[in-house]
Amino acid sequence: MDIKDYIKAVAAEVDAALERFLPSAERMPQNLHKAMRYSVFAGGKRVRPVLAMAACDAVGGERQYVLAAACAIEMIHTYSLIHDDLPAMDDDDFRRGQPTNHKVFGEANAILAGDALLTEAFVLLANDSVDIDPEIRRQVIQIIARASGSAGMVGGQVVDMESEGKAIDLPLLEYIHIHKTGALIRASIEVGALLGGADKEQLASLSRFGELAGLAFQIADDILDVTASQEDLGKDAGSDEARGKATYVSLLGLPQARQRADELRGLALESLNGFDVSAEPLRQIMKFIIERNS
Ligand code: IPE
Ligand code: IPE
Ligand code: MG
Ligand code: MG
Ligand code: MG
Repeated sequence: MDIKDYIKAVAAEVDAALERFLPSAERMPQNLHKAMRYSVFAGGKRVRPVLAMAACDAVGGERQYVLAAACAIEMIHTYSLIHDDLPAMDDDDFRRGQPTNHKVFGEANAILAGDALLTEAFVLLANDSVDIDPEIRRQVIQIIARASGSAGMVGGQVVDMESEGKAIDLPLLEYIHIHKTGALIRASIEVGALLGGADKEQLASLSRFGELAGLAFQIADDILDVTASQEDLGKDAGSDEARGKATYVSLLGLPQARQRADELRGLALESLNGFDVSAEPLRQIMKFIIERNS
């Protein structure tokens, strides 16, 4: 299996579903719906939906039950990017190869497009068009809500902002990364596993994998901010240093940041020891997370 083909196939499935789930740009208020669609379809890697599907595969589940949740997570992730780029936060001009949402639609619309993507994600999660056990659905909604809120992504973003220009220690940096990025990645895997029918033991192993993959993903993001071009990244490069962000590279230096990402990959693969070839996509995605160039 070529993981690039796997990612492409899942991304196409997710994009087609997002096209159906998102309000049409013709519908009032048109400008809001245009702004929501602009960032969702600007060309993200769809890593979180792919992880959700791969976790479902790992437990031998059926992907049709994961699709709506995978799309909801991508909508929440896209909202987090729109807000992350705002002048009040990282103040960035490019995202997913295009001018940032606020550059095109203005700050107020960018804030509201983010708000609407977050909220509509939960409309989608509560939608009962696919037959999901009510208790599993409740758990899925809770996992995604927790991972997105003050105990998850938003909490990490706040500490990220508070730490700008400061010398922080490694435990606090790890807190930032695990929350701002790790939480939603871990949730993607947990939700894919749950909807795929994972038992308790499988869920615990996959959750551990998600924790390690999430942290590694943000370390790779920190490294790419220093090593990759804006063209490759599709977003501003060198933005972390310019803003005095605490990153793995600023704290440990490039070689040690790379080493830490490698260590995490090793631990993540170990957490999948109980799985057979069905977890191959997850193993390959872990490699992709560390070795990607965008
Ligand atoms: C970027 O996420 C922001 C982080 C949480 C590190 P991605 O690298 O997944 O961005 P897209 O979705 O591909 O644009
Ligand atoms: C973003 O972290 C985490 C989010 C929750 C959006 P970064 O600020 O490092 O993400 P990029 O580098 O702008 O994509
Ligand atoms: Mg940021
Ligand atoms: Mg940013
Ligand atoms: Mg970054």
